[in-house]
Amino acid sequence: MSLDFLYLNEPDMIRAGVLDMKKCVQSMDDLFHLMGKGDYIMGGPSENHHGMMLWFPLEKRTEKMPVAGPDRRFMAMPAYVGGRFNVCGNKWYGSNIENQKKGLPRSILTVMLNDADTGAPLALLSANLLSSMRTGAIPGVAVKYLQKSGAHVLGVIGAGVISRSCLLAIRETMTALDTVLVYDLFPEKAQKFAEEMAKELSLDIRAVSDMKDAVVGCDAVSVAASGLAPVDIPDEWLEPGKVIIATGAAMFSRESYMKHRVVFDNWKMHKDWLDELRDDPERLLGVNAGHPSAKLLLMVAKGEVDADHMVSFGDVLADPALGRQSDGDVFLFLTGGMGTEDVAWGYDVYQEAVKQGIGQKLTLWDRPHWA
Ligand SMILES: NC(=O)c1ccc[n+]([C@@H]2O[C@H](COP(=O)([O-])OP(=O)(O)OC[C@H]3O[C@@H](n4cnc5c(N)ncnc54)[C@H](O)[C@@H]3O)[C@@H](O)[C@H]2O)c1
Repeated sequence: MSLDFLYLNEPDMIRAGVLDMKKCVQSMDDLFHLMGKGDYIMGGPSENHHGMMLWFPLEKRTEKMPVAGPDRRFMAMPAYVGGRFNVCGNKWYGSNIENQKKGLPRSILTVMLNDADTGAPLALLSANLLSSMRTGAIPGVAVKYLQKSGAHVLGVIGAGVISRSCLLAIRETMTALDTVLVYDLFPEKAQKFAEEMAKELSLDIRAVSDMKDAVVGCDAVSVAASGLAPVDIPDEWLEPGKVIIATGAAMFSRESYMKHRVVFDNWKMHKDWLDELRDDPERLLGVNAGHPSAKLLLMVAKGEVDADHMVSFGDVLADPALGRQSDGDVFLFLTGGMGTEDVAWGYDVYQEAVKQGIGQKLTLWDRPHWA
């Protein structure tokens, strides 16, 4: 029996709606509800591993083998997502900061979707846009459920690609949003971001030159800075009612981690990182330097912070008692990214492509040679 699957290149993905943030936020909303019911599997025996990474050696080992470098890795992120998706998939990417000198993005991503029953490939997707969109959509869903009533001012820290999609998503869910204050280490980047996004979204979007101004007075703050310098947010900036969503590296004080509500995209995944590196916890900061949970995990490993009150977002959706109880609650939402997100949003875009007849059919075989 012949076996075909669909190949969607980047223009195909765009035509099939990968940039539709409203739909992407809904897809991620559906996903977290499923995760709250346990209707998903990620890699490894814990079923919650972020992914399997190729680590290159620090020293040259053979003539051609790559050596370690900034943001240099390969990563496979397999996942099963249930419910209306009921599909398996794997995001597979390579990343090398040197790519930028060759006119390539830092990381180059694909997603393979497979039939959960037979394992047959369904689609191979160009996934750079897919991944950026699903990453941005998560703060949108977090804000939808965790914002205080009447929230209307957003702070943005880090004026890069991911912050753009975070803003697009939060605009969908913070219905009263009227003001956005943007801070970047490089003021010209914040300025450019503010000008471009103000034009696109018709909102009051301004660059600020002090990080404090993108936090204090804001109802929600989205942090997606690349970690060139630490984003360290002191507790006195966290007024009642605020929600901070950290997609990139962000650090808070021990007092903040203890005092406020800490919600992870998936605590079990972050705990997996902790368990892997428990014997050498200082490596958490090295290995996971760009991860928003690195400092907190290190504190948990040293026994400085209790992990008992750490919850996953899916659990919050399943049990609203874990969510906002009053307009005074402060939330720290830490997201490390998951293969389930790529599979869920990839599946929705693939479905749309099938509906519209977009993409190129590839044949794996007409008849399996050795079956
Ligand atoms: N959680 C996830 O699922 C996920 C997925 C993709 C990317 N990320 C993370 O998101 C972050 C942003 O990625 P990007 O592709 O937008 O990067 P980018 O390079 O396009 O933009 C990052 C911006 O942050 C700024 N910056 C760096 N340090 C800063 C600081 N201390 N204060 C203020 N601004 C600072 C840089 O100047 C830059 O403008 C990265 O840390 C990346 O690892 C997370």
